[in-house]
Amino acid sequence: MKIIDTSIQPRKIQTNSMEKFRADFPILKLKINDKPLIYLDSAASSQMPQVVIDRLVHYQTAQHANINRAVYYLSEIATSEYEGARHKLQKFINAREDREVIFTSGTTDSINLVMHGYGRKFIKAGDEIILTTLEHHSNIVPWQMLAEETGAKIRIVPINDKGELLIDAYEKLFNKRTKFVGLIHVSNALGTINPIKQMIAFAHLHHVPVLIDGAQAAPHIKVDVQDLDCDFYAFSAHKLCGPTGVGMLYGKAAQLEAMQPFKGGGDMIASVTFEKTTYNVIPHKFEAGTPPIAAAIGFGAAIDYLSTIGMDKIHLYELDLLNYATELINDIPGVHIVGNAINKTAVLSFVVDGIHPHDIGTLLNQEGIAVRTGHHCAQPVMQRFNIPATSRASFAFYNNKLEVDALIAGIRKVQKVFL
Ligand code: ALA
Repeated sequence: MKIIDTSIQPRKIQTNSMEKFRADFPILKLKINDKPLIYLDSAASSQMPQVVIDRLVHYQTAQHANINRAVYYLSEIATSEYEGARHKLQKFINAREDREVIFTSGTTDSINLVMHGYGRKFIKAGDEIILTTLEHHSNIVPWQMLAEETGAKIRIVPINDKGELLIDAYEKLFNKRTKFVGLIHVSNALGTINPIKQMIAFAHLHHVPVLIDGAQAAPHIKVDVQDLDCDFYAFSAHKLCGPTGVGMLYGKAAQLEAMQPFKGGGDMIASVTFEKTTYNVIPHKFEAGTPPIAAAIGFGAAIDYLSTIGMDKIHLYELDLLNYATELINDIPGVHIVGNAINKTAVLSFVVDGIHPHDIGTLLNQEGIAVRTGHHCAQPVMQRFNIPATSRASFAFYNNKLEVDALIAGIRKVQKVFL
């Protein structure tokens, strides 16, 4: 079986114009098993450029103190750098105001915040929550926990054989019990870019709020939350060349204000007595305790770095790599791409006849090539294609065609070993 999507046409762009950014990533100079590292797992976590590493070192060596708590120099500088990072994110996603950006520990934490803050307050027994087959577990399990607690029901949007959502089926799921929609912007397992703007507009016709899991979209395509008109949008720093342990939740101010707090503690309060506690204004209402200050500042530096390159340029470059890799992989007998949506980011999930994905991953590692193998925390996607797992190569703007060639050679070598 060969699936070649003719809608994916190689585009003419100056691919080597991106080569200079590769040098910004010290880890890419590593050798693994005496071979140059070929890092094709940026969908799991991207690598960090020197400028972000330097920013973290500078913060720790010259700026660190706790924030929002004191008037001395270091505390004031740390507070202003932390709030500065929030402002960078507000600009990056075109939120209306800084207070619509909440720092969290990552996408999973952001989605759990919405489940606890919005879901537990507003969703009741018999209400319906729409999710899709493409969701990552992090946008399934919190809603299942809520459904179990409240008696709400989850309804699922199916996909076609290319890995695209069936929009007619989505629209038919709406009824007067529909109270919430959770949508993945880009599938981590397949790379499908979903038509979320259209889906959000349809949900809003029914006065239903929409949360977008943008973990795999924000690193690759320009996100404009006002243009999308989503109610919530979540992503993690570590997939955007930033540190682990920090992410963000965008929420429309009116939604965030109406929500109940998720975590209680310092900084999220206006006043505390044993009789009654009142809560702080947003965003602080949702940032209890000492936040990941250093990581948030690193997140801001990563946003600056990506903005200097330009998200549109990154998207076009990665699309060119995807088209190149798709054509080459489709030429290998016995190799099948899982997920052939017309609109994709640079994710190539594939299976090889007769060889388990973990064996592929292990042998590619011997060639210095890092790919993810498994169900990619998207077991419903695997169930839809009736497979236990795939191998997944995911590209970033710091990858190049030589690395794609090495991947292709690696897969052919694995086939020789096993077949
Ligand atoms: N969700 C991340 C991935 O797709 C970890 O690999």
